[in-house]
Amino acid sequence: MDGNGRWAKQKGLLRVVGHENGTKSVREVVEASAELGIKNLTLYAFSTENWNRPKIEVQKLMKLLVKSLKKEIKTLQDNNIKLSAIGNLNDLPKNAHSELLEVIDKTKENNAMTLTLALSYGSREELINVVKELSNKVKNNIISSDSIDESIINKHLYTQNLPDVDLLIRTSGEQRISNFLLWQIAYAELYFTPILWPDFRKADLYDALIAYQNRERRFGKTSEQLS
Ligand code: IPE
Ligand code: MG
Repeated sequence: MDGNGRWAKQKGLLRVVGHENGTKSVREVVEASAELGIKNLTLYAFSTENWNRPKIEVQKLMKLLVKSLKKEIKTLQDNNIKLSAIGNLNDLPKNAHSELLEVIDKTKENNAMTLTLALSYGSREELINVVKELSNKVKNNIISSDSIDESIINKHLYTQNLPDVDLLIRTSGEQRISNFLLWQIAYAELYFTPILWPDFRKADLYDALIAYQNRERRFGKTSEQLS
């Protein structure tokens, strides 16, 4: 979800107003995804690197998180959506952390869609943790190093309960990954749109999905092998 700051700047507004308006796009995309029967939606809300932003902006983003969690619990319940989170959640301010855990708990029986928020998330940090955990397990003879394969790595990622990414959408015209789910997007289809996140609406999600439907996912095979 990129482009909140530029959206605000274009309008002569403060960056935080861009973030506020970005929450509308979140609601639209969450609702549209649930309506379409998408099982998993993961939103990159705040990266490990975002902590380096001006303190006032970080504070505002955390406040917005708390406010949105309080406000959108109804959207989650109405649409049978389970909330989940990945990242270094202990880094979040106490009230944001506890609000998050509360909504996760309240929605844990929902099963139409899993909405995962990546918060204080960094893919490299996630992978470093996997290496640490696995090396500890090898050291303590819980597993052998020979047994390490893709499935063991998957089971140690934050995303252990999620499938690989099918489609990754980045808004605002930037064409990079920025430390997001690096392992999990190995075979994802990438979709870049110039639309700034606060302008992103249901119809824009449909456009991305239509583009996705027209991709041929070969997973290394030839086109002929697929048909
Ligand atoms: C995305 O918008 C929101 C977060 C990363 C929290 P930006 O704040 O990155 O917006 P730009 O890139 O400055 O336009
Ligand atoms: Mg940005």
